[in-house]
Amino acid sequence: MRAQLARDFERFGRSLPRDFAAHVRETYRIDLATRYLGEPLPHAVGKGSGQLSLNARQLDEDADAGLAFVILKTVIAQDESGAQSMAAWAIHETKMKVERRRAASGVDGWTVTWKGRGWDRSFDEYLSLVRAGRDLARAGRLLAVPSVKYHLPRLHEPFRDGEYRFTTQALAAAWGGDGPLLLEQDFSPTLAGDALADDRAQILRWLREVPGQIRAHAPVRLALKLMNARFDDAFQVEMLQAAGGAEALVVFNRLFDENLGVAYGGWDLSDRNLRVLDTPSLRPGLVMPELCGTGNIHSGRMILEYARRGCASVQLHTFFQLPLGEYPAANGSRTQRALHKLIFDPADGLIAGLLELEDQGFLERQGGELHFLDLVPDAYRPR
Ligand SMILES: Cc1cc2nc3c(=O)[nH]c(=O)nc-3n(C[C@H](O)[C@H](O)[C@H](O)COP(=O)(O)O)c2cc1C
Repeated sequence: MRAQLARDFERFGRSLPRDFAAHVRETYRIDLATRYLGEPLPHAVGKGSGQLSLNARQLDEDADAGLAFVILKTVIAQDESGAQSMAAWAIHETKMKVERRRAASGVDGWTVTWKGRGWDRSFDEYLSLVRAGRDLARAGRLLAVPSVKYHLPRLHEPFRDGEYRFTTQALAAAWGGDGPLLLEQDFSPTLAGDALADDRAQILRWLREVPGQIRAHAPVRLALKLMNARFDDAFQVEMLQAAGGAEALVVFNRLFDENLGVAYGGWDLSDRNLRVLDTPSLRPGLVMPELCGTGNIHSGRMILEYARRGCASVQLHTFFQLPLGEYPAANGSRTQRALHKLIFDPADGLIAGLLELEDQGFLERQGGELHFLDLVPDAYRPR
């Protein structure tokens, strides 16, 4: 199998088949299938919300590459008059810098430095993008899920129901169909760095009450994308526990550098996320919402680190933005080149990692097959 993997790595570096998950199942008897927000996926790798899911062309390219899902850029909620209480997040900024960042542990990784925030075009244009995503999902080509930043009040203030109502209903209408609207709510790093997030009780109230505020207006399956708050690891665990009303949790958005006033990633981010997910009090007997990992995922091995701590799927951003020379593939879109390395790299890829876990006795074949989802502990497994 390892010789086969070396051959696949070599030839798929020239051209990655869109349905590589079927090839993996046939050739290696490894089933990569999993779920995000209850939806079946051929494999675990999706794209996080951001500057790489702003238009239909980007979605089409990702559908062609065989990506499992994409979260659309975060839109700022509005009421029917167009008023946005979180308007400070709808700012325009195009310049991004992909750069190295050394972690506290001394290891170098990549980060994207960017001063922008949420969607900066009209709400109608966002609804068109949701419809383009819906069409791809119906055609079975790509699951594309909208993301929102809704009004987040101070502790003594009420939620602005007009924003929740108008935005949720408009998204549900654009999404259409018989099933519930799939949606992410973003608690972003710039929010974590804002005075609004100085108060722990205030953050915990958002996590407890936002799901109900949204659900009052449409049938929704909701993922809360949790921030890395500026408090200790124990507070991250408190946030996870407070957010149990959502169907899924995305853990955890980027860190906030208070000196530079920017969000960042790299190894500091994955070190913190994995450490929090390791917290023993999270485990025994606890039934958690489905988890989706995010942060410094740049190899199949890192996908496995998140999976073993409960994440049935992952969403990446930075790894889809690296200079072309960083990918071993010679051809293809950045998404294809990234998938090629994540899945087929003979040293660090997902297949190599799964075969190694089998050798070590962590994972067993059932009916002759290895199943990616068997790695996810029971309490977190999507039902
Ligand atoms: C330039 C940039 C813009 C982003 N914008 C959003 C956003 O609008 N909404 C959101 O939920 N996450 C946003 N993110 C977070 C990513 O989706 C992702 O969760 C995070 O960067 C961690 O993954 P990574 O280490 O693979 O980049 C953004 C990230 C970057 C780098």
